Amino acid sequence: MKRYLPFSALLLICTLPAAQAAEPRSVWDGIYNAAQIKRAAAIYATKCEFCHGQNLTAGEAPPLTGADFLANWTSYSVGDLFEKTRNTMPATEPKSLSAQEYADLIALMLSVNKFPAGTAELPGAADRLKQIRIEAAKPASK
Ligand code: HEC
Repeated sequence: MKRYLPFSALLLICTLPAAQAAEPRSVWDGIYNAAQIKRAAAIYATKCEFCHGQNLTAGEAPPLTGADFLANWTSYSVGDLFEKTRNTMPATEPKSLSAQEYADLIALMLSVNKFPAGTAELPGAADRLKQIRIEAAKPASK
């Protein structure tokens, strides 16, 4: 008798629950809303703009938009980006904002990177954000 499941059966077992569950989601699923972008714009202007530039592309600090930024973060989660931002930014006073303010700023980055808005707010909760993947390329099904 065979002791191991054939590879295809293992694959089926691994992919079925993932396909059925609502999570994990990706940045293509409309994971932030317009109201928080408005809040984020005000925070960005006072806390981030003088290093990262007006459109998140200019300034002395690295761009928070564009192909290089997305290449850095593709296959990481929104939670990873949230934690890095919270733990290191603003460079002069890390962790100085609330968790929700950091989530709003992440939403702003997603918006400028042309990921679609939705109805729900992006929450300031790292564990929930870790379930959302950053994917530069739009999935074929969206
Ligand atoms: C005093 C200048 C300064 C300010 C203010 C600042 N940053 Fe930065 N930021 C930097 C520098 C320099 C780096 C690159 C070094 C690093 O990654 O630690 C960076 C890196 C980053 C990265 C990582 C980029 C990547 O490609 O991985 C993110 C995200 C970021 N900043 C977001 C923000 C946000 C959001 C704010 C406002 C809350 C902010 N920063 C404020 C200087 C700054």
